[in-house]
Amino acid sequence: MFKRTKVRQLLETTHYNREVTVKGWVRTFRNNQFIAINDGSTISNIQAVIDFTNTDEALLKRITTGACVSVTGNLIESVGKGQQVEIKVTGLEIIGDSDAEKFPLQPKKHSLEFLREIAHLRFRTNTFNAVFKIRHALAFAVHQFFNDKGFVYLHTPIITSSDAEGAGEMFRVSTFDPDHVPRNEDGSVNYKEDFFGKATNLTVSGQLEGELAAMAFGEVYTFGPTFRAENSNTTRHLAEFWMIEPEMAFFDLDDNMDLAEELLKYVIKYAIENCFEELEFLKTRLSEEEKLKPQTERSELDLLAKLNFCLDNDFERLTYTEAIQILKNSKPNQKKQFKYPIDTWGADLQSEHERFLVEKYFKKPVILTNYPSEIKAFYMRQNEPDEQGRKTVRAMDILFPGIGEIVGGSQREERLDKLEQRMAEMEIPLQEMSWYLDTRRFGTAPHAGFGLGFERLVLFVTGMTNIRDVIPFPRTPKNAEF
Ligand code: 4AD
Ligand code: MG
Repeated sequence: MFKRTKVRQLLETTHYNREVTVKGWVRTFRNNQFIAINDGSTISNIQAVIDFTNTDEALLKRITTGACVSVTGNLIESVGKGQQVEIKVTGLEIIGDSDAEKFPLQPKKHSLEFLREIAHLRFRTNTFNAVFKIRHALAFAVHQFFNDKGFVYLHTPIITSSDAEGAGEMFRVSTFDPDHVPRNEDGSVNYKEDFFGKATNLTVSGQLEGELAAMAFGEVYTFGPTFRAENSNTTRHLAEFWMIEPEMAFFDLDDNMDLAEELLKYVIKYAIENCFEELEFLKTRLSEEEKLKPQTERSELDLLAKLNFCLDNDFERLTYTEAIQILKNSKPNQKKQFKYPIDTWGADLQSEHERFLVEKYFKKPVILTNYPSEIKAFYMRQNEPDEQGRKTVRAMDILFPGIGEIVGGSQREERLDKLEQRMAEMEIPLQEMSWYLDTRRFGTAPHAGFGLGFERLVLFVTGMTNIRDVIPFPRTPKNAEF
């Protein structure tokens, strides 16, 4: 097979007048002459010019949008506008035909909603080329960041028997025939008969296993799929999403926040430095979309300015209690514009509150700390109750503009008695979690960690607005296509 050259390479070269072969998919075919070919290596197409007077009519008909072609010809400096180089075709082969009548992607702008329905083909659009290239770059940057710091990449199990977040939003894993589930005498399900001999589920977080490894390696991180059966049909929730969870021995809450802020800035900077073409494209796309919105709803910064702003500013750090005070006194609260008015300490913050703090009040990323223990997971380190007897834990959530919560983490409760007491209060079976408690029994140490939602990060960096558009095949309530 004749070796192909990638389009990216050809568009960067000035080495003209040589024979090249390009393989890719036809985007457009104009005037029976100009073929725009995209091979995925760049958003840009290469133009191939075919001499139609000397080409078989039947072959010309097969050059349709979506067809896969191999084109050989002379690479020349282009005379036309819009491109540096083009290929003067000497040989063209149709690798795979595409019926122009049936191919759903026409050379025009399609809505994101429509493209979501044909997610198997949307990779072939410029928008999704850019989004998934950036997704790749961010994943690579995450590994680079931790590797450079000497963290160990830990693969935690996808099938578990524990509920790490204690929220009960889990997908069951079972090989039972749903029509013939073995039962105990009292009617309850007999999981002893199931594949693993106990009730199992898809993991909601790799944190608990991460903690075990941190008590040996010191610093570890996970980066894998996690699953939540929460029935949240929003632009920020997926039933299957990827999470990055570092866990560090001898880190307190401040160290934890420093690391999270450093990680976020590092990966955003990496994208700016390595995804210039993609970000420029998405910036333009976003600003065109913004123009359709009323003036008051448009964002003040373009995509790149927004990313750079995030790099150039310290994230605002404040406690939950301080945030509640700000929210209580805020205009939207006083004017009863919040759907969930803030009147008492202890309320869980809704996305409208998070967005007010980030987008209206501080106008930059915010880290909220020391949340009420009632609204947080069992493993978080307990603070001494304040003068008013209010109980808080050493939690931290990072809130981003347009996104809301992007990171959730905490210092962990390393004291066995305190941890057991809290688990008992929350009715978490101590016996089943004995392996977890062993870390506190044998050489316990202060430690901390956090979880960064990877798709929420990709959302922020790409400026896309729906989380379904930053993961190749989204899983959401009532949807598991492809
Ligand atoms: O705040 P969460 O639930 O924290 C944990 O799972 C901890 N075990 C993390 C840790 O300390 N190691 O989730 C962490 C992050 C959220 O901040 C959010 O970015 C993302 O995961 N996330 C989701 N992303 C998409 N869809 C969902 N349904 C998500 N739920 C959480
Ligand atoms: Mg959270």
